[in-house]
Amino acid sequence: MKRLALLIPLALAACDRADMVSQPKAKTWDSNPFFPQGQTMRLPAPGTVPRAAPDRPVPQPAAATPALLARGQERYAVFCTPCHGGAGRGDGIIVQRGYPRPPSFDEARLRAAPAKHFYDVISNGKGNMLSYGAQVPPADRWAIVAYVRALQLSQGATLASLPAEDQAAVAAAAKAPAKAPASGATR
Ligand code: HEC
Repeated sequence: MKRLALLIPLALAACDRADMVSQPKAKTWDSNPFFPQGQTMRLPAPGTVPRAAPDRPVPQPAAATPALLARGQERYAVFCTPCHGGAGRGDGIIVQRGYPRPPSFDEARLRAAPAKHFYDVISNGKGNMLSYGAQVPPADRWAIVAYVRALQLSQGATLASLPAEDQAAVAAAAKAPAKAPASGATR
């Protein structure tokens, strides 16, 4: 009895599946005289409301306020650092494990690209990068774009462009003798 129970699934697995694959059926994109619209795929009933809200673009904020940058930094850390890395050099943790390397935001072409280009790449993806439109709502895309701009600025910043107190701090650090890293400061 036990042996028979084992044999039944084996016998079923051996069935010729071609018979079931080639049975008559209506395919999604086929024309189909059965329905008044002449196609298998049904059209939504008039007045149907889509479940997912359509992506309503919002205009680019006029100014990069501290609040916008803070939001962008936080969202960038969540959605972009895994590939683009903390400074936007394209060296995120996933890339270190074999994902195709994105370009650095610091390259001339991307420095010159308009803000809308970054917004569009987040919305639609590009090449090896998938769209983040579903995860990042339009207002947050602009916040991320503002933060990416800040990253670009940080990579090419000159001493003269810093506020006076930061200039003084840099000058003091340059004069100070090289310090051994504090214990435990491995990062
Ligand atoms: C899973 C990895 C991954 C994540 C996460 C990711 N990207 Fe990318 N990104 C890529 C790759 C790979 C490319 C290179 C695409 C190509 O050219 O094939 C790229 C390219 C880009 C480019 C350059 C487009 C160009 O014109 O060459 C921008 C800008 C960009 N990403 C922004 C972002 C932002 C902002 C986020 C976060 C919302 C993000 N990416 C998240 C992998 C990623």
